[in-house]
Amino acid sequence: MEERQVNCAKPYRLGILGSGKGSNCMAIADACAAGHIPAQVALVISDVPDAGILFGSRERGIKAVYIPPGPFRTKLDETAERSYVSALKDAGVNLVLLAGFMRILKGGFLRAFPQGVVNIHPALLPTFPGLESWKQALDYGAKVTGCTVHFVDEGIDTGPIIAQETVPVLPEDTAASLHARIQEAERRVYPEVVGALARGEICLQGRQAVWRK
Ligand code: GAR
Repeated sequence: MEERQVNCAKPYRLGILGSGKGSNCMAIADACAAGHIPAQVALVISDVPDAGILFGSRERGIKAVYIPPGPFRTKLDETAERSYVSALKDAGVNLVLLAGFMRILKGGFLRAFPQGVVNIHPALLPTFPGLESWKQALDYGAKVTGCTVHFVDEGIDTGPIIAQETVPVLPEDTAASLHARIQEAERRVYPEVVGALARGEICLQGRQAVWRK
């Protein structure tokens, strides 16, 4: 079976893409700054001009830019995709992290970063892929949900799973309270995974992400 070592590039330079408030991005940036992740956040990009992720990153001294996504609602157009790739390459990025980036990335983008593109999803995949997964879990009546960190492939939330953490759904939960509890778990698990990747502790055997520690 083909085994892919996912950390050949050193030092690790992270590019983070997000559309929202950026709590995952900040957790990762703070873990880098504290020395818990042996990597540097080289660039943050948002498709939303006034997204919190841009302001929080700049407050931390991280270069953060808005790059227009083009006319489509759910993906980047070709010009935008080229702009995203060249901004990340110019910044020396070798691992791309999606942190609440609400657009689908196509094969051209993914092939530009053979080290990997990683995403955090607010449910236990393969359940509740797509949008507002915490709301899907609540509406479905699930008693447990959680979050998943996974490599990105060309499907929607279908790439190899690296780590998951479970979160209970409580009887009194609203969509907002459940999402907040999931996000607490996200802020634990995502920095942990990025640290393990940067230390070369994760290896991909087919679909299996194997932790070597
Ligand atoms: C997170 O909960 C993340 O899992 C979710 O968006 C939120 C972003 O929050 N991502 C998706 O739903 C992707 N389909 P943040 O901006 O505070 O990191």
